[in-house]
Amino acid sequence: MIFKKNKKKPRKDATRDSSQSTPKKNATRETLQFKIIIRKKRNGKKLNEQEIKYLISEYAKFNIPDYQLAAFLMAVYFQGMDINETTDLMQAMMCSGKVLNLSNIRKPKIDKHSTGGVGDKVSLILAPLMASCGICVPMISGRGLGHTGGTLDKLESIPGFRTNLNLKSFILQLKRLGVAMIGQTGEIAPVDKKIYALRDVTATVASIPLIAASILSKKLAEDLDGLVLDIKFGSGAFMTDYKKTKKLARTMIRISERAGVKVTVVITDMNNPLGKYIGNSLEVMEAIESLKGRGSKDLMEVTFALGKEMLKMAKIKGGIQLLKKKISSNAALDIFKQIVCAQDGDALIFNDYTRLPVARHTYRVLATKSGYVHSIDNFQVGMLLVKLGGGRMQMEDRIDPSCGFQIYKKIGDRVKPGNCLVKIYCDNPSKARLVQREMRNVYVIRRKPQSRKKLIRETIRS
Ligand code: URA
Repeated sequence: MIFKKNKKKPRKDATRDSSQSTPKKNATRETLQFKIIIRKKRNGKKLNEQEIKYLISEYAKFNIPDYQLAAFLMAVYFQGMDINETTDLMQAMMCSGKVLNLSNIRKPKIDKHSTGGVGDKVSLILAPLMASCGICVPMISGRGLGHTGGTLDKLESIPGFRTNLNLKSFILQLKRLGVAMIGQTGEIAPVDKKIYALRDVTATVASIPLIAASILSKKLAEDLDGLVLDIKFGSGAFMTDYKKTKKLARTMIRISERAGVKVTVVITDMNNPLGKYIGNSLEVMEAIESLKGRGSKDLMEVTFALGKEMLKMAKIKGGIQLLKKKISSNAALDIFKQIVCAQDGDALIFNDYTRLPVARHTYRVLATKSGYVHSIDNFQVGMLLVKLGGGRMQMEDRIDPSCGFQIYKKIGDRVKPGNCLVKIYCDNPSKARLVQREMRNVYVIRRKPQSRKKLIRETIRS
């Protein structure tokens, strides 16, 4: 028996339920022990390391049914976890798979992760850019889900590009090129994938301890020297509340410190789509344009803010000037070409965007009144991409990489009747017309301009 039975009398306010009655004979030992843990968390008590390790390892071994883990996740959603519990959860999830050993790579190993947004293609620019500065970037990324896009889907819109390298090939490429961009293999924190799918369908994604443990269980398995986190805040982010965003930032910094990894958090605004394009192949095109020195101001501001922090962590001098130099000399672009070649992608896309699967038909959404863009429901913009087919609601959904949006007007911009707000790329006319109608409601236009908010809200270092 790993855990002692809870001999305390139930609290007066605790609801009496079957967990306090005689267990059924056919219930397994794991089911009963897990019930004790769920009840403890439901009642707002702290779990110890042993309990957390036990539940994660048994769930990973399929010894615990989804309905029990779902109940546990909901208990955590409402009762939270303290820093010890969250650290134990992260560690248990990380240890469900392999932890890389990159000690024979001499370069500083630093990665970046974003909590997800709309139009966020920063990783495509930043990974080769940092590798061109001498940093090793072992980037293991995720797929898009709901309104947020994912680096893997963007990369896979490049014909032939393989994101499913095994860990051996991943490490070989890191040694050779200093950067590789792959998906979460079954070997890295596999239990997170299972838990994340359950969180998605049980509305328990937006929980600070669950988000922190989930992200860090994968990132800290990369054997990093440092990690720069882009925590998004605003209508297109997981977090719409600034206080909660900061709490997530502090939680992630404290957990990483305990694991001996330096973390810097940059909180960035996600009330506007980032850059000019949203949609997988369109964003690859925009990332290449940015590496050719033609990136939009907001996209480059976020890229440089994160890159500057990565340089600091690696103790490489030069700051933003160095990053700009690596772009103007095409050094970062060359590395991206090498990544595409090494991972079997079509390297001819760099000079011929027609090789990317971009929809041939476009539809414009026009302003009907004059004024200034007061707000954009950025969450809805992401969901309209899902409606077009360019995003997914469930992990197993297939996506259409060709569709997306070109954003012409953002918050604070002046508009006149007939001005184009958004151009829709889509080869399915009925979906395109539906999205065209709905996109109009996403924009709020008022007579007076509102003051522009800072894109980089705050930088918090460990
Ligand atoms: N990304 C993750 O990997 N996990 C979360 O919980 C949220 C975003």
